[in-house]
Amino acid sequence: MAVSSSLVLAGGAAALGLYWYGRKRLEDAREPPSVGRYPLVGSMRHIHEPLYLWLYENFGSEPVVRVHFGTQCVYVFNKWSAFKEAMVDNADQLSGRLSQKLTARLFGDVGGIVASDGEVWRDYRRFTLKTLRDFGFGRRGAEEIITVEAEHLHQTLDEAAGKPVETSVLLSTATSNIICQLVFGSRLASEDEKFGEILEVFRKITHNEDSNSTNAMFMTIIPLIENLPFIADLFFKTPASKAAIDDFLKLLGYCNEQRDKHIAEMEGVDTARDYIEAHLLYQRDQPEMFNDTRLTMAVSDLFIAGTDTTANTLRWAILYMIDNPDVCEKVHEEVAKAIGNDRLPTMQDKARLPYTQAVIEEVHRKASLVPMGVFHRVVDEVTLANNGGWKLQPDSICTFNTYAIHHDPEVFPQPEKFLPERHLKEDGQFAASPHLSTFGLGKRACLGESLARMELLVFFVTLVQRYSFSLDPEDSRTMWQLTEDPSFSKGTVLRSPPLHKIVFKARNI
Ligand code: HEM
Repeated sequence: MAVSSSLVLAGGAAALGLYWYGRKRLEDAREPPSVGRYPLVGSMRHIHEPLYLWLYENFGSEPVVRVHFGTQCVYVFNKWSAFKEAMVDNADQLSGRLSQKLTARLFGDVGGIVASDGEVWRDYRRFTLKTLRDFGFGRRGAEEIITVEAEHLHQTLDEAAGKPVETSVLLSTATSNIICQLVFGSRLASEDEKFGEILEVFRKITHNEDSNSTNAMFMTIIPLIENLPFIADLFFKTPASKAAIDDFLKLLGYCNEQRDKHIAEMEGVDTARDYIEAHLLYQRDQPEMFNDTRLTMAVSDLFIAGTDTTANTLRWAILYMIDNPDVCEKVHEEVAKAIGNDRLPTMQDKARLPYTQAVIEEVHRKASLVPMGVFHRVVDEVTLANNGGWKLQPDSICTFNTYAIHHDPEVFPQPEKFLPERHLKEDGQFAASPHLSTFGLGKRACLGESLARMELLVFFVTLVQRYSFSLDPEDSRTMWQLTEDPSFSKGTVLRSPPLHKIVFKARNI
């Protein structure tokens, strides 16, 4: 009896193995090259952290490769041509995000912008773009808010009087205040202690250090958790789930308080003055689409996507200026000539700052801030006709390797060097590089790009205009350790520099 059951088991295992091998052969023939994989664990035994760098070094010449996160297939675009063909030419087929069944079970609804798809995503993206545009997003209104924040930044740095300052909290507070102004109508990040706790929640999410193996495990077990209520209940009792729920409830509570405050202040007002008020008006007219839970998710997206991204780009910019003092001096000279020292920069000055713009573009390229892009779900089969004719299967995931795209030596010769001149025309005018993937492309491209570009120009110019930068003299790390050492970023969403302090020395102006 025991012998026959062993035989059945062995036969079953062999049949499964053959089935897996047959499927793999079939997929390998029509899908992009795989980085290697085993059943269940996928590519985990092959890949190394940080994944963007490992893929660049080992598969950088392949326009698209397949990585298996456990049982989940992820197509990664390493070359700009594949990235553009996928995200622009096939935007609709690739506009999905990961399943939100778990979010729905946890919080009773789905919504927001970054993680949603379908009708909710379309309506919230449209609403958000319209609303932020109405408040001068990319135009004058937002510029005033940014300038006020730049003044506050000065004040803080002047008070530090040349003592080393940790830049992460300093710059995140400044960029958070800008989103606070747009969303809540006030500078809560600096003025409301309670909001400090909420900022911590956001920071936890962007600084999530999950490794690729953790992600792979999660992606493999997610279908089980989603579809089996018993397992889902167990999962929701884990400390990690409880912490996520608590964080969300904290945020929901805060947004609801703000909403109530706005309702009280809105009596007789029919033109919204900030995002919350605009949402309240939409909520009144379209209650089936716009509700409090979705508002909280959208607000949380604006903070998560719109604060540490810009703040960390500025942190990179300062480090690259320390590493390239000649570039920093050229920016200072250009700023002194175009603006002088007596006033803050405005967007009108932009055209007279071609070199400065080229420097910011090079910061985007070198920093590759969102190194592995943001995952999209393949909604319908796609054939990449111009990139090997490879097929992308529905319900797989795809993403772009910003780091590989930005360091492609065929597009950016000597990619390791910081060379702003790559983004200048022969006549010295700025030429935005068409081959960067900093903000994504297509229908899901970054919704805050114009705001981010305004913030970066105003803050960067203000800092270079007023201060020279150097590293904390007590920091014994080399610039390579601070800017290139791969060990500082693992499976994180953002490629941000390790914590460090900067001495901002007032220039003699
Ligand atoms: C330097 C600063 C920034 C960088 C590098 C950046 C980069 C990105 C990237 C790579 C994506 C994903 C695109 C995709 O899925 O294909 C994205 C999406 C997004 N970003 Fe940004 N971003 C920045 C600033 C901002 C700001 C200031 C805001 C808010 C005001 C913002 C709001 C969003 C939102 C809401 C999405 C989701 C769009 C969607 O799924 O439809 N971002 N961003």
